[in-house]
Amino acid sequence: MIKGFIFDLDGVITDTAELHYLAWKALANSMDWAFDREINEKLRGVSRMDSINIIKNHNNAEVSQEKLLQLATLKNDIYVESLENITPNDYLPGAKELLTHLKNEGFKVALGSASKNSSIVLNQLEAMSYFDVIGDGNSVSKSKPAPDIFLYGAENLHLKPEECVVYEDAESGVDAAIAGGFYLVGIGPKERVGHAHVRFDSMLEATLFEVKTAFKQLF
Ligand code: BG6
Ligand code: MG
Repeated sequence: MIKGFIFDLDGVITDTAELHYLAWKALANSMDWAFDREINEKLRGVSRMDSINIIKNHNNAEVSQEKLLQLATLKNDIYVESLENITPNDYLPGAKELLTHLKNEGFKVALGSASKNSSIVLNQLEAMSYFDVIGDGNSVSKSKPAPDIFLYGAENLHLKPEECVVYEDAESGVDAAIAGGFYLVGIGPKERVGHAHVRFDSMLEATLFEVKTAFKQLF
């Protein structure tokens, strides 16, 4: 039986992908590196250091580990500054309604995000009260596609993976949740999250009613 839900943050609860894009773009420009929306798509769900390595490799750049860390920190400073602009109006359509339904029906809810900035984003959205457990980039050392962040969420909700539904918009996140033995709702196009158990184009369609219908033997 499903007793809990675990949510990715970026691209599921709110759309921070654009802010990540702008921050990476500013960093790339300062280095004279090529960076566009196509490469940005490859960074969806991917940790900060893995992201900068993807960008560096795309540019065939030679950069020391120390310098890479410095650049990632610089990108993060730009990104964190831009988070000040997020307001409680910036939930993805349908996300706030879903979190409210889950609370009203007594489901347990955790966050399972790769971002080390999750708490800042949730505070800006005034969304903290929807979550019983916050699992983020500071909670585990192995990032998606390893299942660790979702296992952390389930464990701290005192639930087994097969008692939880995970919502994910990233290919690496879907892989992580499958590896952990969770039921999985993919948000986005087939090419990206078609390997989830159920897929919806956006959060607006991924209502509690639809998920209960899709997994009806589990509710
Ligand atoms: C994920 C985003 O949620 O968090 C990635 O989809 C991002 O794009 C990753 O790189 C890490 O985020 P942060 O805030 O720790 O740099
Ligand atoms: Mg995401």
